[in-house]
Amino acid sequence: MARKIVVTSGKGGVGKTTVASNLSAQLAKRGQRVVLCDADFGLNNVDVVTGVEELITYDIVDVIEGRCRAKQALVTHPDFYNLHILTSVHSAPERYISPQSLKLVLDTLSPQFDFILIDCPAGVDEGFHRAVAVADEAIVVTTPHISALRDADKAITLLKSYELDKISVVVNKVRGELLAVGESLSPSEISELLKLPLLGVLPEEYSIFNGGLSKAHPAFKILASNLLFDKNKTYNPARLYTGFLGSLRRVLKKRL
Ligand SMILES: Nc1ncnc2c1ncn2[C@@H]1O[C@H](COP(=O)(O)OP(=O)(O)OP(=O)(O)O)[C@@H](O)[C@H]1O
Ligand SMILES: [Mg+2]
Repeated sequence: MARKIVVTSGKGGVGKTTVASNLSAQLAKRGQRVVLCDADFGLNNVDVVTGVEELITYDIVDVIEGRCRAKQALVTHPDFYNLHILTSVHSAPERYISPQSLKLVLDTLSPQFDFILIDCPAGVDEGFHRAVAVADEAIVVTTPHISALRDADKAITLLKSYELDKISVVVNKVRGELLAVGESLSPSEISELLKLPLLGVLPEEYSIFNGGLSKAHPAFKILASNLLFDKNKTYNPARLYTGFLGSLRRVLKKRL
């Protein structure tokens, strides 16, 4: 049976889809059989972020409405053959998709996979509850900013009303140059503040995160290994900005 993990946040735009997609790719690279399910009906973009939009024949709504079987709707990623994407491109926001019908689809797939990652919509309303109701575990993505942390805290309160096996936090968009001089909350402070174990730390790096799936970024490798082996190693985005060369990098970055 697959571990069903919802990637959620409360606040929009903090990196749920980026984390769900890249974490899925890293798990697949390690030989895990992974389904990445786009449960952000209406504002779906997993297909674009993973670069499979041209390869889609059926999507999850086709499965729910009986036009194909669940396995037929999976799009296998051309670069990660263990990664299978369940898109939601045809989904119109006005179509009602119940948690029960989503659960049925994922339960059908579960015996043949090791992980099912569920990309959750922003907010804490119907779409959030639908995605969380089908999961066994949750990853809360936040950035080190106050507004994201406040929304994460609200989402966590709601997550606690579900019988989830595990809830952990990924701190995304960490700016190493600010962290190095104490101008940003540290990931461990955030983990303490939210009272959740720290599963991963990801730096803010446009070159890497805006260009589709990352094949080799160490931060994603560590994240996948923490999830897979229940470890708590952390990537340190401040490392590049300490010492003499690091100070130089900080000065140069300020000038940009
Ligand atoms: N670590 C990062 N460094 C730089 N850019 C990032 C990082 N993580 C995400 N981004 C960028 O931030 C934007 C929002 O990311 P993403 O779509 O993953 O967020 P989301 O939480 O899924 O948003 P939504 O709530 O709208 O679904 C995207 O342009 C993405 O490329
Ligand atoms: Mg998203």
